[in-house]
Amino acid sequence: MSDVSDQSFLQMANTVVDDTRPGVQCGPIDDLIARHRPGYGLVRAFYHDPDVFERDMERVFQRHWHCLAHESIIPKVGDYELFRLGDEQVILTRDKNGQVHALLNVCRHRGAEVCTSRRGNTRSFVCPYHAWTYGLDGALKTARLMPKDFDRSAHGLKMLQVRVVEGLVFVSFAAQPLDFAQVENSLRASIGQYGWAEARVAHRETYGIDANWKLAVENYVECYHCGPAHPEYSQTHALEQPAEVIAGLNTAMEARTCALGIDVVGGDHWQSSAAGAEAIHVFRYALYDGAVTGSDGGAPVAPLIGRFTDYDGGVTSIHLGGTSFFVAYADHGMIYRFVPKTLDSCEMELIWLVRADAEVGRDFDLDKLTWLWKVTTDEDKSIIEHTARGVRSRFFEPGPIAPMEYNELRYINWYLEELGRA
Ligand code: FES
Ligand SMILES: [Fe+2]
Repeated sequence: MSDVSDQSFLQMANTVVDDTRPGVQCGPIDDLIARHRPGYGLVRAFYHDPDVFERDMERVFQRHWHCLAHESIIPKVGDYELFRLGDEQVILTRDKNGQVHALLNVCRHRGAEVCTSRRGNTRSFVCPYHAWTYGLDGALKTARLMPKDFDRSAHGLKMLQVRVVEGLVFVSFAAQPLDFAQVENSLRASIGQYGWAEARVAHRETYGIDANWKLAVENYVECYHCGPAHPEYSQTHALEQPAEVIAGLNTAMEARTCALGIDVVGGDHWQSSAAGAEAIHVFRYALYDGAVTGSDGGAPVAPLIGRFTDYDGGVTSIHLGGTSFFVAYADHGMIYRFVPKTLDSCEMELIWLVRADAEVGRDFDLDKLTWLWKVTTDEDKSIIEHTARGVRSRFFEPGPIAPMEYNELRYINWYLEELGRA
């Protein structure tokens, strides 16, 4: 399987660096898309065909924006962290002006990795091979014993497009990225109210999942499975019920949010990528009465955050592009990053955010803060891998999407549109 992944990420990288790569054979995939049965799940080939995985990398991974981190992981000048996205490695840095950069970890001489440690603080990156030295902004500062007319300015590290919005760092591999303006507005109107720009990372956890990345994302976006699969989550989160059943709870929650003077975008707002902008879906839902946040029993777990002076008993949920997801509570936040690895494996990183001045031990208990989503994600990993083994069968035939899986239906339709886009 790694050969498939190698090939795909190589093509993805070539798209950034060199647009002369040969086109992907697309006839059979377009045929698969055309034969998709509306209202049903995806057929087996979408999870097991190496060509589909390559197209995923090209049309979803390379074309769309991805949340890489919260910028509080690199608070000081010179801080950096290395991210592995398949065969690509991205160094997230903060330069002397405080600006965040996403540098490709590929020396412009003969291609060695210039950054060899996972994270740290530095003034420059010295390639371990022949010692070309790059600044935090990727500029080539020195290249020893090169001819006098060597143009250093033309040999800086290649960089991804970066946007920092409300503390969240987004990157795009595309030379011409999708328009991000509407997404920025939506993020300001939603998690901006939760003060994420001033938040900090309290904990991170990475889960390796033996499944095609879409099985992991599809599982994330629907809550039809919450009742049977997540007893802990379902104790407190009303999303485990059909929308019509919880409409009253949601109305009461919106009234409480409003009474706090908080104008967080409510309802259900969806923007597709059809017009060349990044996709975003923002919606809110209530916790059950007596629960105020995502925790064991819904009890508070951290100091109130952002504009919240009291708990509103609500949750703001955001789906962005194809791989980035956010959940905002009145006292903490969650980032979910999905990273395709190979045709049959992916990773999911969970990032817990708290108010910047909140101290572990004094203001919050880390085990209590992380309990709910650790338990829930362990359960998810298990059911995603059960599903991956099931859909491997040649007898697998997708069934109808249930009414409670409306977000899964929306995601599948969006994915097929993106995959079929020229
Ligand atoms: S490969 Fe980096 S300096 Fe030669
Ligand atoms: Fe789940």
